[in-house]
Amino acid sequence: MKVYIAGDIPEIGIDYLREKGLKISLNKKLISEQDFIRNAKDCNGIVTLLSQKITKDIIDSLPKLKVIANYAVGYNNIDIAYAKEKGIIVTNTPDVLTAATAEIAVSLMLSCNRRIVESENFVRDGKFSGWQPKLFLGKEIKNKTVGIIGGGRIGTATALRIKAFETNILYYSNHRNPLLEEKTDARKVSLDTLLKKSDIISIHLPLTPSTRNLLSKEKLGLLKKSSVVINTARGEIIDEKELIRKLKKNEIFAAGFDVYENEPNLNKELFKLKNAVLLPHIGSATEEARNEMSLLCAKNIANVLNNKKPLTEV
Ligand code: GLV
Ligand code: GLV
Repeated sequence: MKVYIAGDIPEIGIDYLREKGLKISLNKKLISEQDFIRNAKDCNGIVTLLSQKITKDIIDSLPKLKVIANYAVGYNNIDIAYAKEKGIIVTNTPDVLTAATAEIAVSLMLSCNRRIVESENFVRDGKFSGWQPKLFLGKEIKNKTVGIIGGGRIGTATALRIKAFETNILYYSNHRNPLLEEKTDARKVSLDTLLKKSDIISIHLPLTPSTRNLLSKEKLGLLKKSSVVINTARGEIIDEKELIRKLKKNEIFAAGFDVYENEPNLNKELFKLKNAVLLPHIGSATEEARNEMSLLCAKNIANVLNNKKPLTEV
């Protein structure tokens, strides 16, 4: 049995697959669909990155394929419905990256509210000429309302962390989350209420047809002028052009981006915004999470190819 690994993932998962007697073929770079198909042709399992689209054509061109292990929790890069139709199992990497992603969301909240990046650049530019009462005034987080969009694992982990800053938590979700409510006194509200009342909004939803453009131009119109918007989920969930316009006009206070509508081809207007913090999609980028993701992908593949249940099928 052979596994194609379409990315430069940590060794731990690759070693695991080798120990299980699987043959490995490895390509560390993002490549064209044709090259991908050529490389993966005779493979029974593949490990994919979220930057690699797995289309119908790819699936149809890999006759021996039994399992696709996505090296991510989100799987909007894969044609799931078609894989299912073909009887191919798809797995993702939930849980192991929850803390890492929540830490990035909280980092962006702190960076935006306290203008960390803007003031750090100021120091680097040699402009710091002494303490001043009004230098880089930000917005305290204490006593503010944080609106968590999505009541799943990452949303809950983010709420638990930011609650320690003495905040009030609102959340918007299709389902009630008793753990979130019990641990943070969070209140489940409508999306409109959340957008109108929150000082900080943080998105923790997967990208699906129903979440695409959820924060439309109209919904963004409900935000307070003092609000901060954080996105560590998927860029396509927000109307990015409208968000940029609002930042430019100071119609909101700031925004923290870890993800973008059109990665990696970013809207150049973003680079001009002083009130935006821009990260290169590093939500799960800790040594711990990335190693665990690698191992989880490997276990999922080895299980399926040994006729056992995968650990985290989507
Ligand atoms: C990262 O964005 C992931 O979905 O794991
Ligand atoms: C979303 O992927 C979540 O786990 O909350």
